[in-house]
Amino acid sequence: MTIQFITTNAGKFAEVSEKLAAASVKLVHLDRGYPEIQTDRLEKVLKYAATGLDDEVKGDYLIDDSGLFIEALGSFPGVYSAFVQKKLGNRGILKLMAGERYRAAFFETVLLLRQGEEHEVFHGDCAGTIAESERGRNGFGYDPIFQPQGETRTFGEMSLQEKNAISHRARAVDVLLTHLSATKEL
Ligand code: IMP
Repeated sequence: MTIQFITTNAGKFAEVSEKLAAASVKLVHLDRGYPEIQTDRLEKVLKYAATGLDDEVKGDYLIDDSGLFIEALGSFPGVYSAFVQKKLGNRGILKLMAGERYRAAFFETVLLLRQGEEHEVFHGDCAGTIAESERGRNGFGYDPIFQPQGETRTFGEMSLQEKNAISHRARAVDVLLTHLSATKEL
């Protein structure tokens, strides 16, 4: 089967297509954006986006909204992750965390799949800590400052395959694959 992944983020596309290729799902990159509302939950952003995309995109599509939630900062940047990455960057987050010993954080990914007339939503998360400094050049976004639980390296120091073995996005894709095999699409 073929699904279009609507994203302007080449890193997300690489991660999801690697996972889906292993399950014989072909992912086509539709490199375009869509309106993202400011709201308190990732899922609401996707549901709103889907109402517009349903009219504009033919065929099955997938969209991804993700965020980094830092406990000592009251879950910030959370749903504001894209804005904060653009305005403050990883250095800005490290400044906000300077002197903070409690560095627990988690990533969350929500995927929305439009298939026929249906919308299905899948969640994945990954717990970890905010590193003391940026480490590694792999991945994208907050990867160099996020160290997954039980690991000594940040996502930025891991290969795509290593990140895909444990990440929030990979876990959401696993739930999507379970759904596709339960509905006999695979
Ligand atoms: P969005 O899902 O595109 O809105 O992403 C929100 C922000 O989080 C963007 O700045 C992304 O670069 C960042 N982000 C999303 N997923 C990841 C990830 O897996 N690792 C690191 N940063 C991410």
